[in-house]
Amino acid sequence: MEDQAEKLREFMKNQQNGTGEEAKGDGDPKERNGSKTKIIAVASGKGGVGKTNISINLAIAYARMGKKVIVLDADLGLANVNVVLGVIPKYNLYHVIRKQKQMKDIILDTDYGIQIVAGASGFSRIANLTEEERKSFISEMKALSHADIIIIDTSAGVGQNVLDFVEAADEAIIVTTPEPTAITDAYGIIKIISTEIEDFDMGLKLVVNRAGSVVEAKKVSQRVINITSQFLNIKVDYLGFVFDDPGVSLAVKKQQPFSIADPRGKAASCVQTMVNRLEKVDPREGGGMGRFVRKLFGANGE
Ligand SMILES: Nc1ncnc2c1ncn2[C@@H]1O[C@H](COP(=O)(O)OP(=O)(O)OP(=O)(O)O)[C@@H](O)[C@H]1O
Ligand SMILES: [Mg+2]
Repeated sequence: MEDQAEKLREFMKNQQNGTGEEAKGDGDPKERNGSKTKIIAVASGKGGVGKTNISINLAIAYARMGKKVIVLDADLGLANVNVVLGVIPKYNLYHVIRKQKQMKDIILDTDYGIQIVAGASGFSRIANLTEEERKSFISEMKALSHADIIIIDTSAGVGQNVLDFVEAADEAIIVTTPEPTAITDAYGIIKIISTEIEDFDMGLKLVVNRAGSVVEAKKVSQRVINITSQFLNIKVDYLGFVFDDPGVSLAVKKQQPFSIADPRGKAASCVQTMVNRLEKVDPREGGGMGRFVRKLFGANGE
């Protein structure tokens, strides 16, 4: 126990110093030297707009560039990461927090060069964990530091856990479709993020999914960007769009990511373009796992 606590203190100290020591690990050859994990949260106001499909296929596009990527499924609802990938996680973060399992037991490899971790259900707020649970969560999150990128697929809307994850991430991707209801809800979630999150300074990026044309996607993004800058004084960057593509639904039915089922399809090439852009405009590494857990637990997290 003593030893555990000491290790944890050392880990947190290194995080604070920004030395990135966590990424070096204990000599595990899978771990990287010094560079820090980037954490991207994918969120939306309206449900069913494509967060899970975009999360998984972004992850695959990053993996194709040689990055180590983990998709963390923060939403254990129906039709999510595991279903779209056709895998069934037996355990999730909840078991890790409860010390019934270790992180290494719940990380799932997939056939597509990415790993997935099922999020926790069973408690309403990650920030409300007991001291004991929080410690095991923090120390176990270390086991994800080997990733270059962690993509968090959140549930729709602005539940407190979604806000917690968005706040803790290095950047957030907001997904909308061209439907007016989705656009209104995208504005709604951006407004809540910008007002609820203290010291709001993160990069917000917009993706227009299910666009009929480049022009339509551009128009939708302009609307969101204009209203957010006018009424919220917030800068949202347009990351890109994904065509409405019947191949997506076919792939979901096959329980395969669309960029695997139809790699040259319209949707797959859009996602590849987005990742290329992300890497070009924003090749920085993230804040690392230490920043993530500190932010996740807010000011009283240490
Ligand atoms: N680009 C697209 N083209 C055509 N259909 C799409 C596209 N993106 C998503 N869909 C359809 O929308 C459905 C919902 O997508 P997905 O599960 O990724 O949304 P979600 O935002 O994660 O939903 P939830 O809010 O329930 O988590 C898919 O099963 C698919 O049928
Ligand atoms: Mg989903």
